[in-house]
Amino acid sequence: MLENRQRIVMGGWVVAVCSALACMVIAADPPAGPPGAPKVPARDARRKNPIPADDGSRATGKHIFAGNCQPCHGAKGQGNGPVADKLPTPPANLTDSRYAKETDGTLFWRISNGHTPMPQFDSTLPAESRWNVVNYLRTLIVIPATNPSTESTK
Ligand code: HEC
Repeated sequence: MLENRQRIVMGGWVVAVCSALACMVIAADPPAGPPGAPKVPARDARRKNPIPADDGSRATGKHIFAGNCQPCHGAKGQGNGPVADKLPTPPANLTDSRYAKETDGTLFWRISNGHTPMPQFDSTLPAESRWNVVNYLRTLIVIPATNPSTESTK
C-alpha cells in the first residue's frame, strides 16, 4: 500500500521535472536579438511591412542606412563601422543569416526602439523610412552556402 503511494509520488516528480525541462528547452529556442536586448512584443513582430520591397524602396533604405546606421554597423552592415570599436557593445552584424528568420516587424521594432548604445529611431526617422531600411537590410544578409543534399528547394 505504502509502496504504491510512494510510486505515485515519485511519478508526480518525474512529470514535474520533465515539464520543467521542456520549459527550459522552449526558453532556449533562438533568443531573438542580442543578449540582454528586450524581447520584441509578439504583436509588433507580426506587423506587416506596408512598403513593398522593390528597388525604389531598397535604394531609399540604402541612402538612409548610409546616413544613420553606417557609422556603427559599417557600409555592408557587418558591425564594423568607423565608430564601432568606441562603443561599449559591438554593433550587431546585420549580415548574419539569422536575420533571414526575423520578421520585418521585428527588425522595424528594433530600429524604432534601439538598445543602448544604439539610439531609438522612432523620433528621428519617419516610419516609412524605417520600413525602407528594413527592406534594404534584407539585401545585406549573407546566407552561407549549404550542403546541396540538405539544401531546401524553396
Ligand atoms: C551608435 C551606433 C549605432 C547606430 C547609429 C545604429 N546602431 Fe543598430 N545597433 C548598434 C548596437 C551596439 C547594437 C546591438 C545592441 C544590443 O546589443 O542590444 C545594434 C543592434 C541593431 C539591430 C538589432 C539586431 C538584433 O540582433 O536584433 C538592428 C536591426 C540594427 N541595430 C539596425 C540599425 C539600423 C537600421 C540603424 C540605422 C537606422 C542602426 N542600427 C543604427 C549600434 C548602432
